[in-house]
Amino acid sequence: MNILDGKNLINIDSLQLENIVAGFDKICVDIGTGDGRNIYRKAKAEPGTFFIGIDPVKDNMEEIAVKLNKKPEKGGLKNVVLAVAAAENMPPELHRIADTVTVLFPWGILLEGVVKPIDEFIDAVAETAKSGGKFEFITTYSPAYEENTIETRAMPELSIDYFNGEYREVLKKHGLIVESVEMLDNEFVKGFDSKWARRLAFGRKRDFYRITGSVL
Ligand SMILES: C[S@@+](CC[C@H](N)C(=O)[O-])C[C@H]1O[C@@H](n2cnc3c(N)ncnc32)[C@H](O)[C@@H]1O
Repeated sequence: MNILDGKNLINIDSLQLENIVAGFDKICVDIGTGDGRNIYRKAKAEPGTFFIGIDPVKDNMEEIAVKLNKKPEKGGLKNVVLAVAAAENMPPELHRIADTVTVLFPWGILLEGVVKPIDEFIDAVAETAKSGGKFEFITTYSPAYEENTIETRAMPELSIDYFNGEYREVLKKHGLIVESVEMLDNEFVKGFDSKWARRLAFGRKRDFYRITGSVL
C-alpha cells in the first residue's frame, strides 16, 4: 500500500507493514482520516496502539505526515502511518488487521456508504477488522444545514430509530453487530482535533450519531 513518508509516497508490502506494527498492543484503522489530526492526537495519548489513517486525498494528510517524521520532542510519532487509499479499494495489506475501525464525520460517497448503508463500504469495514474487533462510526447532517447533500445523495433522515431499525439488520448480514447507537452534541465533538471536526464542534448546534459495535 502507498503510505506517506513526509510528503513522499512509498509503497510497502504486508511484511514491511507487519514489521512497522510489531510490538504494538492494538491496531486502529481510521477510514477517511482527512488531515490525520484526530488519529495524531489519539496516537499521542495511546502509545501502545498503532494508528493507520487512510484517505484518498494525499495533500490533506501531508502536514501531519511531515510532523510524524520529526524528532519526538518536535512532535514525531512512531505509532502512526497515513496511507493514500479509498474505502472502496482498501489496500489488501489491511485485510483483517484492525482491532478497531473508525469512520469519523464522513462526507461524499463515504457518508453514503456508511449511512445508507452501501454493501462495499460496510464490507470494507468488516474486512479490515479482526474477528472480534470493534467499529465506530460518527456522523451528522441535518435538513437545516445540508438540504442539498440530503437531496442529491438521497440521504435518509438520521435518528436513533433509523440506526436501530433495518440499518442494524443490514450491518449484521455483513458481520457488523451494532451494540450502541447514541445521539451526541457539539460538546462531545470538541474532543476531536481535526480541522473538520473543530469546524463542526464549534459551528452551529447539531446532533451527532455515534454507532459502535463488534465485527464477527
Ligand atoms: C469530512 S472529512 C472528515 C475527515 C476526518 N475523518 C475528520 O474527522 O476530520 C471526510 C473525509 O472522507 C474522505 N473520503 C471521501 N470519500 C472517501 C472514500 N471513498 N474512501 C475513503 N475516504 C473518503 C475525504 O477525502 C475526507 O477527508
